[in-house]
Amino acid sequence: MFLILLIASTFTQGLTIVSHGNSFITAFPENLAYFYPFTSSIILTVTALHEDTSFTVYFNNTQRTIPNLQRGATTKVMFPKTAEVHQLNFSTNSIRITSTKNVVVQSFSQTGTGTILEKSVQTSVVQPITNLGTDYLIPPLKQLDLIQTFGGSPAPFSSQRYSSFKLIIINAEDTENNITIVKNISGSVQEENFTIPSYQLIQLQANASLFKVKSNHKVAVILTHPCLEMTACKCNMIVNQILPTEFHGQNFVVPYIPGITQSRLLMTSNERSTSLSHSNVQLQPSSSGLLSLSFQTKSQYVNASGNVSLKLISPGLFVEVIPENMFAACYLLQVYSDVKNALVIAETGSKTNVHNQNSPVTNAAWTEITGTKYSSAIIPLTEQYTFIWHPSSKIAVYILENIGTTVYGGPAIPINDQPDELGCVVIPGQFEVKNEPLNWTESLAHCTSLQSQLACLTKEDIQMELANMINTTEDEEAWIGLRRSLMTTDWYWQRTPSTTPLPSSSVDYIHWADGQPLDKSKGLCASLSLDREDAFKWKSAKCCEKKRPVCYKPPTVLTALTSGVTQNIS
Ligand SMILES: *[C@@H]1O[C@H](CO)[C@@H](O)[C@H](O)[C@H]1NC(C)=O
Ligand SMILES: *[C@@H]1O[C@H](CO)[C@@H](O)[C@H](O)[C@H]1NC(C)=O
Ligand SMILES: *[C@@H]1O[C@H](CO)[C@@H](O)[C@H](O)[C@H]1NC(C)=O
Ligand SMILES: *[C@@H]1O[C@H](CO)[C@@H](O)[C@H](O)[C@H]1NC(C)=O
Ligand SMILES: *[C@@H]1O[C@H](CO)[C@@H](O)[C@H](O)[C@H]1NC(C)=O
Ligand SMILES: *[C@@H]1O[C@H](CO)[C@@H](O)[C@H](O)[C@H]1NC(C)=O
Ligand SMILES: *[C@@H]1O[C@H](CO)[C@@H](O)[C@H](O)[C@H]1NC(C)=O
Ligand SMILES: *[C@@H]1O[C@H](CO)[C@@H](O)[C@H](O)[C@H]1NC(C)=O
Ligand SMILES: *[C@@H]1O[C@H](CO)[C@@H](O)[C@H](O)[C@H]1NC(C)=O
Ligand SMILES: *[C@@H]1O[C@H](CO)[C@@H](O)[C@H](O)[C@H]1NC(C)=O
Repeated sequence: MFLILLIASTFTQGLTIVSHGNSFITAFPENLAYFYPFTSSIILTVTALHEDTSFTVYFNNTQRTIPNLQRGATTKVMFPKTAEVHQLNFSTNSIRITSTKNVVVQSFSQTGTGTILEKSVQTSVVQPITNLGTDYLIPPLKQLDLIQTFGGSPAPFSSQRYSSFKLIIINAEDTENNITIVKNISGSVQEENFTIPSYQLIQLQANASLFKVKSNHKVAVILTHPCLEMTACKCNMIVNQILPTEFHGQNFVVPYIPGITQSRLLMTSNERSTSLSHSNVQLQPSSSGLLSLSFQTKSQYVNASGNVSLKLISPGLFVEVIPENMFAACYLLQVYSDVKNALVIAETGSKTNVHNQNSPVTNAAWTEITGTKYSSAIIPLTEQYTFIWHPSSKIAVYILENIGTTVYGGPAIPINDQPDELGCVVIPGQFEVKNEPLNWTESLAHCTSLQSQLACLTKEDIQMELANMINTTEDEEAWIGLRRSLMTTDWYWQRTPSTTPLPSSSVDYIHWADGQPLDKSKGLCASLSLDREDAFKWKSAKCCEKKRPVCYKPPTVLTALTSGVTQNIS
């Protein structure tokens, strides 16, 4: 889930703000296993974004392939309790997933039955390997101070097992990986090196001294605590996949989470001098290093002097705050408990255009966030699987669930970064110049026969997209869907033969070459230059001329989500 311009386009490979991919690696941290060994579930959910997707799960030297998923189908993969990483040091308990087409993966751990006090639940988005890195900054965690900051007291069973956060470092590649962890112990910087075999992992104790992880090859880094003791014998598991430094940001809308009365910010940055401000007032750290928020009961905008990662911390809750430059257009949400909400941050001017699946959200109570162009709202969720999107601007979406009085959750899964009025895009629209020279009418029919349309460049954005996508230098013209009415001589766009021509619809955006269009006797159709030196400008032409058509395949959007079968891995 993230950046100013690292990824302007969904077509680029590599790091993206979206969390789908075809290769994933993760591990299940220990969740109170010691006390409740028999009442747990540990699950990975895999949601297919494309038709006919298969995926394979690799665990404990076995592999299982789940074939033929439909777009939007979610498969629950259940793992045995033994999959949990419950000891320090090296382990082979990593889980890998590869798929034939892009999927998203979320992990879910729950332990405890009976009284809700014993329950501990966490969900976490599993990042695709494309979003992993080799440099990670570890947040400074002082467990005792942290508990005391929130008025709690340390666990009565202060065994080493529960006295610190742990860090799981997973080698994401099929090769030996040299890892260096960097500690600053009382001002002296020390390094420790480990070599992790292919796809294996190491679990370490983390404290405020351990501040950096570096590696030769990509690693996944998970920060975890099996039972963060807070108050009244209540604890909750923490799972937080740390994102590489490329995902840091400077501006954040810190969400207000209803029901949470004390929350603070944990900031991680490369520079010790980095500060965080709200309305130009610097936020001050407590002894635990946590920063105090200006308001406890409303969402607020904060601004760092450099790139940082921010986590919102409250007893039992550990939420990654989505930087503004990583807001996205569409998010997938998977929920598990009965009390489930989405917290959405959207631009105030277009907030009523936030959609939940196929309809605009109409019943949300929006609150403006002071000093920003944003508003936030809590949207109750009724479905276990849903997607929330915006047709024209980027938004941030968090999932919040309750068990008893404990709130858990975090960012939803971003699946598309660029807004599109058609919906939640999983395959972007594609322009393609076909090979056969045809007349204009035949071109229209030809594109249609390919489940495509003759290209209609109705906005500058679309013209730019075409220019970027085809980027040719051919000294040639190609047909687009622009023509003029025989009667009125007005220009209009026509995509397909079946569409009723709309000569009344005005052509607002134009990109004619100099001196174009010629008068109607010299041509009723329009073509586009295939030469980028000519800026892909348009010319009028006779419709009977043979030119190659520029076809446009509209984007594929998510329409429905379904629950697939549950698979047990033993
Ligand atoms: C891996 O499988 C073996 C037997 O096939 C089993 O004894 C062992 O407990 C499994 N390990 C884990 C971590 O589940
Ligand atoms: C970790 O494992 C390695 C080898 O597997 C062993 O040499 C080392 O002593 C272990 N360290 C601890 C702290 O258990
Ligand atoms: C990893 O470290 C080992 C020594 O621990 C060294 O022999 C090897 O060359 C290193 N590999 C890389 C890729 O740096
Ligand atoms: C290590 O910690 C000391 C304070 O204890 C600080 O002055 C120094 O800048 C730190 N070094 C690094 C590399 O973070
Ligand atoms: C750890 O590895 C790095 C290179 O990856 C090397 O520069 C450093 O000296 C090593 N540190 C120790 C303590 O071996
Ligand atoms: C963190 O743990 C190391 C041992 O790994 C210890 O030397 C150091 O003092 C601890 N730091 C803090 C801040 O507790
Ligand atoms: C962000 O912080 C800087 C100072 O670090 C300040 O100059 C700037 O106005 C702030 N921007 C906003 C939008 O608050
Ligand atoms: C923050 O990161 C972005 C992209 O990673 C970079 O372009 C920008 O210059 C960074 N800002 C600062 C203040 O370092
Ligand atoms: C088009 O291709 C040229 C040469 O391959 C490249 O330099 C240019 O950046 C490309 N333009 C776009 C918009 O992709
Ligand atoms: C295009 O060619 C078809 C025959 O292939 C013909 O019927 C049609 O009239 C032609 N259209 C134009 C505008 O020339």
